[in-house]
Amino acid sequence: MFLHVEPYAGDPILSLNEAFGKDPRVNKINLSIGIYFDDDGKIPMLPSVRAAELKVVAESGARPYLPMEGAANFRTAVQHLLFGADRQAVLDGRVVTIQTVGSSGGLRVGADFIKRYFPESGILVSDPTWDNHRSVFEGAGITVSTYPYYDADTGGLQFDAMLAALSQAPARSVVLLHACCHNPTGVDLSQDQWRKLLPVLQERELLPFIDIAYQGYGDGIEEDVFAIRLLADSGLSFLVANSFSKNMSLYGERCGALSVVCPDAAQAVNVLGQLKANVRRNYSTPPLHGGQLVARVLTDPDLRRDWEAEVVTMRERIQAMRRQLHDVLSAKLPGRDFSYFLTQRGMFSYTGLNPAQCDRLKDEFGVYILRSGRMCIAGLNTRNVEATAQAMAAVLA
Ligand code: LMR
Repeated sequence: MFLHVEPYAGDPILSLNEAFGKDPRVNKINLSIGIYFDDDGKIPMLPSVRAAELKVVAESGARPYLPMEGAANFRTAVQHLLFGADRQAVLDGRVVTIQTVGSSGGLRVGADFIKRYFPESGILVSDPTWDNHRSVFEGAGITVSTYPYYDADTGGLQFDAMLAALSQAPARSVVLLHACCHNPTGVDLSQDQWRKLLPVLQERELLPFIDIAYQGYGDGIEEDVFAIRLLADSGLSFLVANSFSKNMSLYGERCGALSVVCPDAAQAVNVLGQLKANVRRNYSTPPLHGGQLVARVLTDPDLRRDWEAEVVTMRERIQAMRRQLHDVLSAKLPGRDFSYFLTQRGMFSYTGLNPAQCDRLKDEFGVYILRSGRMCIAGLNTRNVEATAQAMAAVLA
C-alpha cells in the first residue's frame, strides 16, 4: 500500500537538533535551533509565566473545547500587545485575531486563506528566510519566490535591491516580512527603511504577511512592533502571525496567533468567519492551557511588569554573548571583521560560514550551527562562548 511513499529527508533545523541530542560528547554546544537557553544552558521557566500557571491551575475546572477562534481573553490581549489597545485600527474593529497552534499554525491558516481568496497570488519571501516558510506556503499550494535581502559582503541588508524587486512584483502578491529579529540572518529594516517600504507596498497593492516570532528580543516589546503599527496606521490590509514560544519560553505549549487587518469592520467579520472555517477543517479548535498562561501574563499588571523585565534580561544576555563572541574572535583573527555580531539582532546571526566549515564545527568541535551558517546566539553562555570562538577561529583560519 505504501511502497510509493518516499523517505523523509528531515527538517534542517529539527533534525540537527535531534542529532545534537544523540551526540555523546560532553562538551557539545547547541547553537542550532532557535531556543533561548539561560546562562546555565537551561530553557528557563519564566517566573511570571510560572506564577500565571499556578493561578490558572488553581482556578481551572472543566476543560471544555475552546471556540474555533480560540479564547476571547487571549485574542484580545494579543491584539492589544501587537497593535495597541488605543490604536485606530483596533478601535474601528478592523483587526481580527485568532489563537493558533504556534505561529507556524498561524502561518498555515493564513496560507490556506490566501490560497482560497487570492488563488493567483504567489508569495515573495526574503532571501534567505526561515527554512520552514517555504514548506508552509508550498504545502498550501502557493508558489514561493524570493526578494533580495541579506548582503553577504556587509553582513547587512540589500535594501535598495529589496525595494526594486518589490516595486516590480505582480499586484496582489503576498510579501512575507519579518517584523524584527530576522530569522535566519538577524538583519532587520530600520524604522526609516520600513517607512520607505510602505509606499511600495501600497502602490503595488501588495499583501504583507508579517511574521513576528521574537517580539522583545530586538529592541523591546513595543519597539519590535513598530512595523506592524506603521502598516496598521497607514490603512493597509495585511496578516500577522505571532508567537509566544520564545518571549514566554512556552515552546511546547504552541501558543501563537494569526491577525488580519482588514479595510473595515464589515470585511473583518467575514474574514474572521473564514479563518474559523479553516481552523475547523484543520484541527477544529486550539488547545486551552498555554493560551491561558499567556492571557494571564499579559492582563495581570504585576505579572505583565515581571514578564517585561524578564524579556529585558533575556535580550541583554544575548547582547552580552554577541559582544563576548565578537571580542574573542576579533582578538584571535585580527584581520577579520566580526562587527556583524554586534549589528545583527535577536537570537540569530548569519556567520557567513559555508556548509563545509559548519560540518567541521560540528564534527571536530561539537559546535552545532545550521549548515546555512546560522548561529543561535541564545545558546551561548559564559562557559561555552570561549570554546565556540576557538572553534570558529580554527575553521576560519
Ligand atoms: C528556529 O528557527 O530554529 C525555530 O523557529 C524553531 C523551528 O521550529 O524551526
